[in-house]
Amino acid sequence: MEPFGAWKQAQAMVRVTALASAVFVMLLVGAPGSGERNDYSSVSEAHRGCVEDAVDSIVRDAVRTQKRMAASLLRLHFHDCFVHGCDGSVLLDGNNSEKLAPGNNNSLRGFEVVDALKESITSKCDIQISCADILALAARSAVQSVSASHVTWSVPFGRYDSKSPYSNLTKDLPGTEDTMDIILKKFAAQGISDPKQVIALIGGGHTIGRTHCSFSRRRLYGNLTSISALYSDPQYVTYLRQECPKLQTDEQASAIEIDLDNTSRDSFDLGFFRSLREGRVAIRSDMVIGDPANSPDVRAAVTLCTDDAYAFYNTFASGMEVMGSAHILGREEGEIRTNCRRPNGYSSGGGGGGGQHYAMP
Ligand code: HEM
Ligand SMILES: *[C@@H]1O[C@H](CO)[C@@H](O)[C@H](O)[C@H]1NC(C)=O
Ligand SMILES: *[C@@H]1O[C@H](CO)[C@@H](O)[C@H](O)[C@H]1NC(C)=O
Ligand SMILES: *[C@@H]1O[C@H](CO)[C@@H](O)[C@H](O)[C@H]1NC(C)=O
Ligand SMILES: *[C@@H]1O[C@H](CO)[C@@H](O)[C@H](O)[C@H]1NC(C)=O
Ligand SMILES: *[C@@H]1O[C@H](CO)[C@@H](O)[C@H](O)[C@H]1NC(C)=O
Repeated sequence: MEPFGAWKQAQAMVRVTALASAVFVMLLVGAPGSGERNDYSSVSEAHRGCVEDAVDSIVRDAVRTQKRMAASLLRLHFHDCFVHGCDGSVLLDGNNSEKLAPGNNNSLRGFEVVDALKESITSKCDIQISCADILALAARSAVQSVSASHVTWSVPFGRYDSKSPYSNLTKDLPGTEDTMDIILKKFAAQGISDPKQVIALIGGGHTIGRTHCSFSRRRLYGNLTSISALYSDPQYVTYLRQECPKLQTDEQASAIEIDLDNTSRDSFDLGFFRSLREGRVAIRSDMVIGDPANSPDVRAAVTLCTDDAYAFYNTFASGMEVMGSAHILGREEGEIRTNCRRPNGYSSGGGGGGGQHYAMP
């Protein structure tokens, strides 16, 4: 059988940009263990209908109960893919976990929903789907649920799960203090090298969800003259300074939440880009993407996403396809975890195969 048949087939069913196709071809040719991965993806493809229904129903319920959960699930997939590829590494528990690493600690959420997804798929569909695939599906259902299903993309199966966390690689995640240049480099390192997709992904992520005051401090009290335009809306800055006063302790600052989208925090829409145009964004990196001193292609990408909802949604969707294919593991590097929080073979007695790399608290 043709290696990666299922990946190719799923890709063929949807609109993909030339760039996305190119990235996929590179992955297909370059990844080891191709036949083995195909075994997993063709087995899981046979259960696609059941798996997608199970994910959709649980994610919709979770988002109905708490709108923000859509944002939290999208962010989990993003933080999974940027750290050692889309391999479920973000889900592993333990003292050395990615969850506890700076940037993620006290910030990532939605892990209980992922547990419920794993359990539901296993019992209803009688198949083990990798935790990395579950995150990819959950992110898509989440975005559908807050965009009236206007925004969707293709999610092929076949991502193997890692056998250990990679907390040493969380530095690959973009940070709020990064320059535009560094942001572009970090996305390119994950195969996302089209600035339009970078901008659409950031804006799509931040049109929903919240941030803590701790992440807005540099934006408020740091030296902003290095950003060429001080184009913030003074009223918005006043509002942020009230919410996030300078003399807060770290603990206080971590407790207060601000909407990333000043106009419509719970719907996937143009709200973020409209807020950006008005100078009303909470974190420094969001200001940086609107810097008029950025390169023409970055500025064009921001203009496109601000003016054309259809182009923004489509570019976000194609960007999610590229992001969701970042550094997929081959079978000899990965496994299909039965519990998303620990590697297979982990045993509390310490004798398990996973225990070699990994310690549970
Ligand atoms: C330059 C790149 C990015 C930076 C620096 C960044 C940074 C952040 C920060 C600091 C927060 C708030 C965390 C907290 O206060 O606990 C946040 C939240 C969020 N980010 Fe990003 N982000 C970036 C790109 C993205 C992308 C590409 C996506 C998804 C496609 C995304 C999705 C989200 C979502 C959905 C939330 C809200 C999560 C929630 O409310 O639970 N971000 N981001
Ligand atoms: C994570 O946050 C907690 C506070 O909630 C803190 O005690 C702990 O030291 C932090 N962990 C790391 C690894 O920074
Ligand atoms: C990161 O940690 C993994 C194992 O947890 C190790 O195999 C890898 O070499 C480390 N990478 C770096 C860059 O330190
Ligand atoms: C702020 O940054 C500018 C340009 O990088 C520099 O000239 C200035 O001295 C800095 N001001 C402070 C207070 O750090
Ligand atoms: C949006 O910004 C204005 C100030 O420009 C502020 O009064 C308002 O509370 C903010 N709303 C949200 C949801 O951030
Ligand atoms: C994890 O950290 C806690 C608190 O620092 C410690 O008591 C525990 O022994 C650690 N567990 C492992 C397996 O290292």
